[in-house]
Amino acid sequence: MREYDIIVYGATGFTGRLVAEYLGSRDHGVTWAMAGRSLSKLEAVRGELGLDVPLVTANADDPASLRAMCERTKVVLTTVGPYQLYGSDLVAACAATATAYVDLCGEPAWMRHMIDAHEAEAKATGARIVFSCGFDSIPFDLGVWTLQQAAIERFGIPAPRVKGRVRAMKGGFSGGTAASLKATLAAGAKDSGVFKLMIDPFALTPGFEGPKQPKGLMPEYDETLGAWVTPFIMAAINTKNVHRSNALLGHPYGKDFKYDEMMVAPGLGEIGKAAAEAMAKLNPLASDKGPKPGEGPSKEDRESGHYDLLFIGEMADGQKLTATVTGDKDPGYGSTSKMIAESAICLVKDVEGAGGIWTAGGLMAAPLVARLKANAGLTFDVG
Ligand SMILES: NC(=O)c1ccc[n+]([C@@H]2O[C@H](COP(=O)([O-])OP(=O)(O)OC[C@H]3O[C@@H](n4cnc5c(N)ncnc54)[C@H](OP(=O)(O)O)[C@@H]3O)[C@@H](O)[C@H]2O)c1
Repeated sequence: MREYDIIVYGATGFTGRLVAEYLGSRDHGVTWAMAGRSLSKLEAVRGELGLDVPLVTANADDPASLRAMCERTKVVLTTVGPYQLYGSDLVAACAATATAYVDLCGEPAWMRHMIDAHEAEAKATGARIVFSCGFDSIPFDLGVWTLQQAAIERFGIPAPRVKGRVRAMKGGFSGGTAASLKATLAAGAKDSGVFKLMIDPFALTPGFEGPKQPKGLMPEYDETLGAWVTPFIMAAINTKNVHRSNALLGHPYGKDFKYDEMMVAPGLGEIGKAAAEAMAKLNPLASDKGPKPGEGPSKEDRESGHYDLLFIGEMADGQKLTATVTGDKDPGYGSTSKMIAESAICLVKDVEGAGGIWTAGGLMAAPLVARLKANAGLTFDVG
């Protein structure tokens, strides 16, 4: 028996605070606590949010404190990132203590390192460790899963080629996300092994390598859509997680499955081409003037944010089918805080499943889709 169902670790940070606010906003039927490295900061956040929840202290630099935290809860929900800087000892502690884990990681080389280091122990203890439970990569992972379920139902086989297309997306970035991207780029520049993992679509499926994948690195005209498309910054992590879900589920999408993600540029013809080229040059995270740790999009920007994703399945005989996923609020924070909270609740209430290092699609696709539709402002529809 554990004291709590869920501990929100990093509750003093920008995203962790939103998760705490969401969990405190209605009765989910779970017991939970807020955790961080500073008791006084936790007390201040709890007071500002008007919550009455217990507080737990643990420092990412102190493995004994992490282990003690894990032993008190069924699930650790962590927003303490960059994960490659602060997350390794926590994954180790969860694997050792059979504690379930969800995070918002979009750092593929670190994830592969954690799979290599801790998957065997997690399988042995029964710890269910699920990376990437935010905008990367839940809507994409579960969007492809939804599409492939429909393809198998309609055609008897999965679609060998799926295109993920971001039709609309409105939101901003936080200091933690900017720090994570910078840490990933710095690690890739220092170590060619890390760089190789970052560009390998099958970096998260050790022992399996599928066919050559569409690169999605340059603007191009998408014949299926009749529109210009441009590279999507999150594709690097989402495509790897989609391939990992396929592998964890025993390749229901096929071993010849091809998948890419791109953003649809506004406008037709030459205007669409120019927009796609301009969008490809934008990198909102490149500047040092971006948000600092603890900062992120305003409440107004989060409330007015949204996203609209299209998945196109192309069958070998030319038939097509589509699925759409939409979310209310901004993708990275308003929607992400609800997605990770519902993922943790799903692990407590809806799924058992074996220990191991999972994706959301690999471990809890159907119950999580139902939860996100019912509670978190997402839609999943097959066209
Ligand atoms: N995948 C997605 O869709 C998505 C979306 C949003 C965020 N993220 C990721 O989520 C992570 C958090 O982002 P954020 O903007 O919320 O970051 P943030 O505001 O900087 O918050 C970071 C949190 O980590 C804590 N922390 C830092 N060092 C620690 C240590 N040694 N021990 C314990 N706690 C420590 C901070 O505590 P203090 O308050 O005490 O400093 C704070 O609570 C990042 O990795 C980001 O990339 C991903």
